[in-house]
Amino acid sequence: MTPIDEGAILRALHTLQDPERRKDIVTLGYVKKVTIDAGRVTVVLEPANQAPAAKDALRAEAERVIMGLEGVAEVRIDMPAPFGGRPQQDAMMEKRPIPGAKHVIAVSSGKGGVGKSTVTVNLACALKASGARVGILDGDVYGPNIPLMLGVTGEPAGSNNRIFPFVSHDIQVISMGLLVDDSQPMIWRGPMLNKAVQQFMFQVDWHDLDYLLVDMPPGTGDVQLTLTQNTQLSGAVIVTTPQQVSVLDVKKAVRMFDKVGVPCLGVVENMSYFTPPGSTERYEIFGSGGGAEIEREFDIPLLGQVPIGLGVREGGDKGTPITLAEPNGEIAQAFQAIADATVRRLGTLGHGVATP
Ligand SMILES: Nc1ncnc2c1ncn2[C@@H]1O[C@H](COP(=O)(O)OP(=O)(O)OP(=O)(O)O)[C@@H](O)[C@H]1O
Ligand SMILES: [Mg+2]
Repeated sequence: MTPIDEGAILRALHTLQDPERRKDIVTLGYVKKVTIDAGRVTVVLEPANQAPAAKDALRAEAERVIMGLEGVAEVRIDMPAPFGGRPQQDAMMEKRPIPGAKHVIAVSSGKGGVGKSTVTVNLACALKASGARVGILDGDVYGPNIPLMLGVTGEPAGSNNRIFPFVSHDIQVISMGLLVDDSQPMIWRGPMLNKAVQQFMFQVDWHDLDYLLVDMPPGTGDVQLTLTQNTQLSGAVIVTTPQQVSVLDVKKAVRMFDKVGVPCLGVVENMSYFTPPGSTERYEIFGSGGGAEIEREFDIPLLGQVPIGLGVREGGDKGTPITLAEPNGEIAQAFQAIADATVRRLGTLGHGVATP
């Protein structure tokens, strides 16, 4: 048998592409080391996409092409976890799926007030319009807005330790704000709140959801960590405004998801521009380029831009999101494009596309 050399292995790996970036994995610099010991080959790969399913697929492909070479008896593909990994691996082991939901998607931002809740409800409506079954978990313990935005009031029903979600506009919805008793705010700080959040996550009786969107609390504090470390999330959608300050906070959020092994599906840039009625001019009130900057720096896609719309706040206050109130309007169309991009991205990350 001809002894195998590094050149042959690199040529074989050269035939493998990263489906996201449409380039071969050698050119992209994913191949960190090749060791050959007689017929035993070890390759260290560091793909940019850290989603477990995508990594597994790449590992299987790399094994296949190298095993196909003459002179190879055994192949090992090593993929070290980013950020020095062990604790993350352990954290990933403990992650539990949420019963009744195929995909759980966190909607997050580093900073408050950028329109995270608005994006959550309108994205939910757009996914719904494409025929999917959708739920929303309002994870904002201190400032729950989702019930108001969907016109939901009162206490949810429940039995046997299960909580039944409300249904509004055909979207299942529950709010963690229910956990906090206004008269005893202190008791819910710290570990107790975390425990309550954990329990609550798994007690809701979701009915056959394709997508469960979680409106995350702002920032990167305890409650977010609890939610991301204990729940099997398909990915995170990050909301920002075009402003520099907001973008800096988003970078923190992106790093937090990276650390806990949750893939970022992409960025939604909200309040991107304003077009006055009767005009076609776009005014960039909050600056420009935020989403594109994040796309460049972190290599995660811009899922779409949402303009400032006069009806957005009104729709939120009235309990009928603008995507439903004006389904053919500019904002609804923006959210429909964002919903499509999100579903596509879930597909390319290896989570499959939920069929409506
Ligand atoms: N594209 C938009 N056009 C016009 N108004 C918007 C838009 N997006 C959000 N808003 C308004 O901005 C305000 C803040 O939005 P929202 O409550 O969704 O932000 P948030 O990030 O969830 O805030 P918090 O951090 O307080 O939870 C709301 O009054 C909302 O109606
Ligand atoms: Mg909010």
